[in-house]
Amino acid sequence: MAATEDNLLKNIISHAKEYGFIFPSSEIYDGLSAVYDYGQNGAELKNNIKEYWWKFMTMLNDNIVGIDSAIFMHPTIWKASGHVDAFNDPMVDNKDSKKRYRADVLVEDAIAKLQDKIDKEVEKAAKRFENFDKAMFVSTNARVLEYQKKIDEANARLKDAMNSSNMEAMKQLIIDLEVTDPISGTKNWTDVRQFNLMFSTEMGSVAEDANKIYLRPETAQGIFVNFLNVQKTGRMKIPFGIAQIGKAFRNEIVARQFIFRMREFEQMEMQFFVKPGKEMKWYEFWKEKRLKWHQALGLGNNNYRYHDHLNLAHYANAACDIQFNFPMGFKELEGIHSRTDFDLKSHEKYSGKKLQYFDSEDNQNYIPYVVETSVGLDRMFLSILSAAYQEEKLEDGSDRVVLRLPAALAPNKVAILPLMKKDGLPEKAMEILNHLKFDFRCFYEEKDAIGKRYRRQDAIGTPYCVTVDHQTLEDNTVTLRHRDTMKQDRVEIEQLKNIIQDSVSLASLLKKI
Ligand code: GAP
Repeated sequence: MAATEDNLLKNIISHAKEYGFIFPSSEIYDGLSAVYDYGQNGAELKNNIKEYWWKFMTMLNDNIVGIDSAIFMHPTIWKASGHVDAFNDPMVDNKDSKKRYRADVLVEDAIAKLQDKIDKEVEKAAKRFENFDKAMFVSTNARVLEYQKKIDEANARLKDAMNSSNMEAMKQLIIDLEVTDPISGTKNWTDVRQFNLMFSTEMGSVAEDANKIYLRPETAQGIFVNFLNVQKTGRMKIPFGIAQIGKAFRNEIVARQFIFRMREFEQMEMQFFVKPGKEMKWYEFWKEKRLKWHQALGLGNNNYRYHDHLNLAHYANAACDIQFNFPMGFKELEGIHSRTDFDLKSHEKYSGKKLQYFDSEDNQNYIPYVVETSVGLDRMFLSILSAAYQEEKLEDGSDRVVLRLPAALAPNKVAILPLMKKDGLPEKAMEILNHLKFDFRCFYEEKDAIGKRYRRQDAIGTPYCVTVDHQTLEDNTVTLRHRDTMKQDRVEIEQLKNIIQDSVSLASLLKKI
């Protein structure tokens, strides 16, 4: 039953469906590609992640406030932000399989294959020679040097083609790297075309009045265009931040890997407005602070790493990702970007309205610089779910699947389980539930053997099970079972609230940061 790396993601996907976390959207109509629905447990977990982020950003920082801007925005906003002209991915079709790919991803995969060849040469040589010197080997072995040269050339050509939007050069690179379609096995490619990732629709009920508008591809622009509204009405002083959680939409060419890359997803973004020249200090500050927020979840510090961007977008003067070790390897979880004054300046130009801040300390007006933190809520969900999911073989030889979710994020905090469906045990259990339900999300169940019920709670990550038995009726004590250790303690009903509260409160998680 132990999962290999290959089928781990598959097991997580089917577990998420079986236990009411995530369902494919429109499933009875065979689904809709890269769109998912959150079920009864998924919605709770997702809300708890949101609350963890929102409280950390807006409650623990007295200079950050939250807003909730509309998904529909004036179309010129997307012209000003650069999304109409430059929010593109290069796409290419294989004429035989009729499959569509991102051209840059095909090239990156081909480069990764060359790197694999180097790794294999190194591995072979390491087995052959005693006192093997890897650095010496890779700098002198003719075959390795040849592969490395090809990698360097391909990387440089990819960068040039992407930066100059030269799709002919991209096609030539695919041809020169002899990229074959994994399905048809042929090299029969169409030309490479730029594909804009924004979804559009029309506003206005009469065709002549119709006006093309976009579904926002990021929540950040809703913050930029409200910058002065919030600054003035909130009497905010620089440095200050505006946070927002909301839906974003991208018509991803290749959407795969479950909720990692979706067409409809949620972002949790914060724009931090600073004095020009101070942005690098704040960039470093947020890089560190955001990593600590992730690490406080206790999913393993070595599951996170920084990935600094070498090729910066035209508006950024520094950028990095916090990557997480997903079942498919280390991938971007959150982006931290120093976006200079690009967005506000551009909105000033396109709207004709001043978007400046008067700094009373320096007695001057300026357009603030912005440091952005941007994390995908669904990616956060996947990182937590995949780290929490564990298949275990127990001492008695049985199997158990447990979600070791951070207790504060678990959908249910406590399950109340009468041992039997008779002798007044359900009534006593309901009494306990009514005592606890104002403080914790509780779950009640009386069907099936107690062992089976424990396993079901393990599978949805409930940190505590309270079992009500005949002794409870005599002395007001219950069995408290802990999800992670499966240890059982006998405790008084009166103590339950305090014991549970200590470990499941969001405050206890936030205090760790
Ligand atoms: N405002 C900046 C911005 O949108 P981004 O790197 O394009 O930057 C930020 O996106 C985060 O949003 C990513 O780190 C990722 O967590 C999430 N994200 C982006 N595209 C996504 C998609 N198609 N599906 C799920 N999450 C996505």
